[in-house]
Amino acid sequence: MEMSHRSKPYAAIIEAAEAKLRKIMGIPDNYTVLFLQGGASLQFAMIPLNLLRNSKKADYIESGAFASKALKEAQKYGDIKVVGSSKADKYSYIPKVDPSEYRQDADYFYICANNTIYGTKFHEYPETGNVPLVADMSSCILSEKVDVSKFGMIYAGAQKNLGPAGVTLVIIRNDLIGEVDEKVPAMLNYKLMADNGSMYNTPPTYGIYMLGLMFDWIEGQGGVEALEVRNREKAALLYDYIDQSELFKGTAAKEDRSLMNVTFVTGNPDLDAKFVAEAAKEGLVNIKGHRSVGGMRASIYNAMTLEGVQKLVDFMKKFEVENKEA
Ligand SMILES: Cc1ncc(COP(=O)(O)O)c(C=O)c1O
Repeated sequence: MEMSHRSKPYAAIIEAAEAKLRKIMGIPDNYTVLFLQGGASLQFAMIPLNLLRNSKKADYIESGAFASKALKEAQKYGDIKVVGSSKADKYSYIPKVDPSEYRQDADYFYICANNTIYGTKFHEYPETGNVPLVADMSSCILSEKVDVSKFGMIYAGAQKNLGPAGVTLVIIRNDLIGEVDEKVPAMLNYKLMADNGSMYNTPPTYGIYMLGLMFDWIEGQGGVEALEVRNREKAALLYDYIDQSELFKGTAAKEDRSLMNVTFVTGNPDLDAKFVAEAAKEGLVNIKGHRSVGGMRASIYNAMTLEGVQKLVDFMKKFEVENKEA
């Protein structure tokens, strides 16, 4: 952890991490990989500050609380249009948007690919033509194969599928990196970060080292393709049980269901609380839904095994038998 980020051994670590990511994700050469700080939330501001360069217009799909935060941040800097929102329905689905709503002269089009709190995901990405698609993949990166060339920019906070909190991964098409307003702080300038190989200042060195280990692990698992097969199996196991259960009910629209975050309720908040408490006694922890929505949420990121999900389903079955009449 004391290793200088300018030292040769550290250069080998960061370069290897980037090379491995490029390989497992199939990142084309005309994209730059940045390892930044400030969490995914700082990207909510960095994106408009750097990408609103021409028309100063951007289109947003408001599919959850993080998309909404990103939208609010962008509204400080440009002409932002909400082309679709599911806010009125507690973000329980991905808004279906008519492409005629998209502005052809927008500087970018923004989505949150997987909505962590609500358990929804884009199963098909918007076709935005020449307008660069920017996606927050904080809670789904490397969980399934993605064609990077379809995006102008992909970013993710590390703390779900990449490694410890503290690193924010940005993958950005080179033509989107350019001069920004001189008032943009240096630390928020993609060009400065890119020109300095993510080392304008000290990068989150230890976190980047951990990401490199994670990329090795993914490769060892058979790559993103193999993880996707396993992730689909895990999610299907849980959703199939929920769909035939008389006690539990999924809260996300079926066609938009996430592979990473499975949200469900019993319909009775007291019973939900009992479920969470009893599950914890079985070692099934972190199952409580986000404080803004309640109920339950099983986050089954890449590190969760099929056996782990099976254990949860077995426990849900047992709980259902014991509490059916409650
Ligand atoms: C999809 C998504 N975007 C953004 C964030 C915010 O990330 P951070 O806490 O790194 O700012 C999260 C956090 O969980 C998230 O799930």
